[in-house]
Amino acid sequence: MTDTTDPRATDAAEPAQKITFHQRLERNATLLLAASFAVVTVGGIVEIAPLFWLENTIEDVAGMRPYSPLELEGRNIYIREGCYVCHSQMIRPMRDEVERYGHYSLAAESMYDHPFQWGSKRTGPDLARVGGRYSDEWHVDHLYDPQSVVPESVMPKYAFLADRLLDGEHIGEEMAVHAFLGVPYSDDMLAEARADFRVQTDPDGDYDALLERYPGAQVRNFDGQPGVSEMDALIAYLQMLGTLVDFSTFTPDDSR
Ligand code: HEC
Repeated sequence: MTDTTDPRATDAAEPAQKITFHQRLERNATLLLAASFAVVTVGGIVEIAPLFWLENTIEDVAGMRPYSPLELEGRNIYIREGCYVCHSQMIRPMRDEVERYGHYSLAAESMYDHPFQWGSKRTGPDLARVGGRYSDEWHVDHLYDPQSVVPESVMPKYAFLADRLLDGEHIGEEMAVHAFLGVPYSDDMLAEARADFRVQTDPDGDYDALLERYPGAQVRNFDGQPGVSEMDALIAYLQMLGTLVDFSTFTPDDSR
């Protein structure tokens, strides 16, 4: 049934309008997509590309060093277990965050992260400065059974990490890959990777060379058990997070 009072019916009677380029663009989805893509690409390049060449994109910050072999292994476990799904490592420069977590994150603090662990979800708290906030024993208890220390926690249990022993067999190769990606691991660091890996959990060992290579590295038996376990590596990593830069002396470079 046709309705002759439908206002659309009168459209056809109007004289044909001249179709401008913009109207044609809006009526052709493919053309519009292609044109939007071109505009966004040019805009993106103009905004982002200079950051790769500007020296001050990542300012040099005293104290930053590459991860020690044990910390790097801990970081691998952090990634493997998907901790980043619930935890961010990026404190934003907003008052509520800075009061809760500490100084906002600096670009330099993740300059040796491949891939970065900023995260986009906070089911649990931000971990960028969790290093030193709790004792090793707290971390062991918490990883064994989070609900034993925080009854309402929804964090899964990671007790199995304590039973999985590591020998650091491939850590040197992994560090070589990071060196290839631009992390300044020296030949010395690569050659001694396996020894450094083991000595970091051995407070009775000769760890002076480790500390020389990785200033501020924490040397102890993190999980309290003999052998180097995945738990040791993960806690070594957690305990160094956010501890390298001394914020009592740090002043942001505001010359930009
Ligand atoms: C399902 C989400 C989830 C996953 C996955 C998860 N966590 Fe958590 N995590 C939480 C929640 C929620 C809390 C806060 C309650 C608590 O302390 O248990 C928390 C707390 C923590 C804390 C204490 C932080 C603080 O400042 O109090 C640490 C450290 C931690 N998690 C480490 C880890 C590590 C390491 C992994 C991976 C092996 C991991 N989490 C995986 C949810 C998660």
